[in-house]
Amino acid sequence: MQNMLRLFIAVELSQEVHAQLGRLIEELKKHGCKTTRWVNPDNLHLTLKFLGDTPPATLSVLKQTIQAACKSIPTFQANARGTGVFPSLRQPRVLWAGLESGAALGNLVSALDSELANLGYKKESRPFSPHLTLARIASPENTPAFDLTLKSLFAAKEKEFGSIIVRRITLFQSTLSPGGSIYTPLERFQLLEKN
Ligand code: 2AM
Repeated sequence: MQNMLRLFIAVELSQEVHAQLGRLIEELKKHGCKTTRWVNPDNLHLTLKFLGDTPPATLSVLKQTIQAACKSIPTFQANARGTGVFPSLRQPRVLWAGLESGAALGNLVSALDSELANLGYKKESRPFSPHLTLARIASPENTPAFDLTLKSLFAAKEKEFGSIIVRRITLFQSTLSPGGSIYTPLERFQLLEKN
C-alpha cells in the first residue's frame, strides 16, 4: 500500500501576526510551565479543514476540488485579536489567539466542507471556531507557573495582534516527528480577486 499523506488546509499568517504572536509565546513561556507544548511561531497557522490520512492517488482530484471551492470566495481581511482556552478554563487543553473576519472565514470553511464532502471527507458537525493554536497541554498543571501563564494569556484577551489579507489558502502535509510536527506546503490556491 502507498504511504498515506496526513493533510490539512490552512490560512498562512502575515509577518506582522507571526511576529506579534511569537512575542506573546515568548512572554508566556517565561513562566516555565512544564506540561505545555508551545507551537514554534514559524508553524502558526489557521486550520480551515483537517483532512487526515489521504492516499497519494487522491491528491490530484483533491487539489482540483479545493480550487473549485476557492473560486466562489473573494479575498478578505482577517484580524488576529484576543486570546482564550479550549475547551474550558477548568480543563484547558489548547491556548489560542483569535482570528476575526466577519462571516468570511466561516463562508470559506463551508465552501470547502461542501466541495470536499463530494470526495467523501466528513462535514464538520461542530461550529467553526477560528483559532490560532499557541500551545497544547497534555495534562493541566496545578502550579503557580501554570496560573501565571493563564493570567498573562488572559491579560491579552482583547489585544490586537495584526491583520492578514487572505488572498490564498494552503494545502499542507503534516509529518509527525519526535521534535514536533513538520508542516510542508504542497500547493497554494488563490481566492477570487475583487476588482
Ligand atoms: P489545532 O491547531 O486546533 O490543534 C495540523 O495538525 C492542524 O490540523 C492543527 O492546526 C490542528 O488544529 C488541526 N487538526 C484538526 N483536527 C485534527 C486532528 N484530528 N488531528 C490533528 N490535527 C488536527
